Amino acid sequence: MADLTRRIAARLIRLSTLLLFACATPGVTAQTFTADARPWLAAAGAAGGDAPAGFAQARVARNPGAAQAVPIGEKACIACHQLESEHFTHTLHALGLHAAAKADPSVPVCETCHGPGSEHAKAPTQKGSIIGFTRESGTPIALQSQTCLGCHSGGARDHWLGSVHQRNDVTCSDCHNPMANFSGEGLLAKKSVNETCAQCHTDVRVQFDRRSHMPLPEGQMSCVDCHNPHGSTGKSLLKTDSVNETCYECHAEKRGPFLFEHAPVRQNCLNCHTPHGSNEHALLVTSVPQLCQQCHSGLGHPNDLQTPLSLGSGTHPDERLMGRGCVTCHAQIHGSNAPSGPKFHE
Ligand code: HEC
Ligand code: HEC
Ligand code: HEC
Ligand code: HEC
Ligand code: HEC
Ligand code: HEC
Ligand code: HEC
Ligand code: HEC
Ligand code: HEC
Ligand code: HEC
Repeated sequence: MADLTRRIAARLIRLSTLLLFACATPGVTAQTFTADARPWLAAAGAAGGDAPAGFAQARVARNPGAAQAVPIGEKACIACHQLESEHFTHTLHALGLHAAAKADPSVPVCETCHGPGSEHAKAPTQKGSIIGFTRESGTPIALQSQTCLGCHSGGARDHWLGSVHQRNDVTCSDCHNPMANFSGEGLLAKKSVNETCAQCHTDVRVQFDRRSHMPLPEGQMSCVDCHNPHGSTGKSLLKTDSVNETCYECHAEKRGPFLFEHAPVRQNCLNCHTPHGSNEHALLVTSVPQLCQQCHSGLGHPNDLQTPLSLGSGTHPDERLMGRGCVTCHAQIHGSNAPSGPKFHE
């Protein structure tokens, strides 16, 4: 709670600083700024990030690849990069940096991210003379990420270092493009979170096209409802410490407590379900009764041999192949609170 209050306070302070700059700036009214600021507050707040150093503290990024270079200012960049600069104008960073630079001319704009430009302006084709955010730019991947982390470390990015993305040389600009507004919020490289991830994880994205799937293509959720692409303490970049905690966030009724627990449910929902999509009913890993019989293989009731003759149309129809199979009778398969429910019938 104290943590939350601190974060809200930090955000309010940052916002009011911006508003002060905005008000001091002819042509930028407080009203337009509040409207622009709202989505970013929501986005940053929802992700629970800590406050990055605000725009007012922006400094020229350090570029060891051009140690002699000095800053040349935004106007010089625009002279050669008209188009990029126009696209940049309406982004969150441009709004914030321009407001801050008007109030304090020592605040850089382009050079906040790209580093000092004098060497680059003299010899634009020389690789590494400016901080580029592509693999071809000659700027080491680690320096690219570090430049953004100068303002964005902590919070959601607490576990960036050592995360599977960082270790595999994925960098901020694989998912973010701050040079234009391609997405509604989050300055993503593609229109939406899902499309941004699908650039590299097409195999996972197509799992959501299966017969039963989490309602992601329907727009009801996105990859970041369950994963933190910046790194996490759990495995598979899950936002929570275990698979089950992730599932309980939305399927709270499955958490229990139950009088009679079904051991595999407590252990891991993925004993029976796939997280993304499945061609079986209800995201199951395989169909009932085979699903149950993987574990309940004792002789007798749970494990009678099923043949085509056991089908509803066969000579000895068997309940285990009819309706919902085993769960026709063991309906409370996730656990039961009925005094007479130890076999999950009710
Ligand atoms: C004299 C013209 C000129 C000026 C001034 C200039 N640039 Fe460039 N810049 C270029 C050219 C030309 C290229 C393309 C180089 C190439 O294709 O190898 C370029 C490329 C770039 C790239 C891409 C680098 C890469 O390899 O990915 C970035 C980023 C960039 N400039 C940023 C800036 C910034 C920021 C400023 C102001 C500090 C600036 N430029 C000033 C001409 C200029
Ligand atoms: C918040 C950090 C940030 C700021 C501020 C910024 N850029 Fe960029 N810039 C980037 C990133 C990241 C990329 C790589 C985008 C991508 O993935 O292609 C980039 C790419 C570029 C490129 C390469 C061409 C392209 O569009 O990919 C140029 C040129 C460029 N920026 C110029 C500028 C200029 C001029 C300014 C100031 C008006 C500026 N940038 C301000 C982060 C920034
Ligand atoms: C001078 C500090 C500074 C630098 C450097 C910087 N940012 Fe930011 N960035 C900010 C501030 C301040 C905000 C305002 C929102 C916030 O507090 O999160 C912001 C917002 C964002 C957002 C959220 C946008 C939204 O719509 O919610 C993203 C994404 C982002 N930055 C990515 C980057 C990336 C990628 C880089 C490196 C290429 C970068 N930033 C470099 C200061 C910076
Ligand atoms: C694998 C893709 C991916 C990578 C790599 C990535 N991001 Fe993000 N980032 C996202 C997505 C998706 C969101 C939107 C999250 C949301 O809406 O909750 C986001 C949100 C953000 C935000 C705004 C919300 C917040 O957490 O404050 C900032 C700032 C940000 N990223 C900065 C960075 C920086 C800095 C890096 C590099 C160190 C980086 N990101 C690397 C995908 C990525
Ligand atoms: C530029 C390519 C790229 C993008 C974009 C990308 N990833 Fe990844 N991702 C990787 C690589 C490389 C790995 C590590 C190798 C692997 O497991 O495939 C990885 C691994 C993962 C893993 C597995 C982690 C583990 O421990 O097994 C998850 C989960 C993941 N990414 C989620 C996302 C999400 C969510 C997004 C979008 C916000 C995203 N990725 C965007 C390249 C990318
Ligand atoms: C409903 C929650 C949820 C959503 C939404 C979700 N995932 Fe996952 N994802 C998981 C869980 C749970 C795992 C498995 C973790 C394990 O096996 O321990 C996983 C595993 C992964 C893995 C590693 C294993 C593999 O299958 O390759 C990748 C990569 C991945 N997810 C990417 C994505 C991408 C990309 C999206 C969005 C298109 C996405 N996930 C959406 C919950 C989710
Ligand atoms: C962000 C919220 C969210 C998270 C996290 C989440 N789910 Fe779901 N899940 C949903 C929604 C929404 C539906 C669709 C419900 C509907 O259509 O009635 C759904 C549907 C399902 C279904 C029924 C699918 C069908 O075709 O009938 C299963 C099974 C399921 N989820 C299991 C899981 C498991 C296992 C996890 C953890 C890996 C999980 N869910 C995590 C939101 C979530
Ligand atoms: C022992 C196997 C098994 C495990 C483990 C399991 N489930 Fe299920 N689950 C099923 C079966 C079988 C169905 C389909 C029931 C039916 O046909 O009506 C189902 C259906 C569902 C549904 C959709 C119908 C409903 O009851 O709401 C959701 C949501 C769901 N499971 C979530 C979860 C979550 C969350 C976990 C982990 C806490 C979990 N399941 C663990 C077997 C399992
Ligand atoms: C991953 C293994 C696994 C799967 C899959 C599984 N179970 Fe279980 N089940 C167990 C374990 C372990 C127990 C606890 C056994 C004990 O306490 O002796 C159990 C207990 C039960 C019990 C109570 C048994 C008793 O003696 O009280 C019933 C009934 C049951 N399962 C039915 C099902 C049905 C129906 C399915 C398919 C929808 C299913 N199980 C799938 C592992 C599994
Ligand atoms: C027609 C209803 C029905 C169907 C269908 C059914 N069961 Fe049962 N099951 C029962 C009843 C009733 C009991 C309790 C017997 C008792 O208490 O002696 C039971 C008991 C069990 C037990 C506890 C151990 C035992 O042998 O008593 C397990 C495990 C079990 N069932 C698994 C399954 C599996 C797996 C399937 C699907 C292949 C299945 N059941 C299908 C009614 C059913």
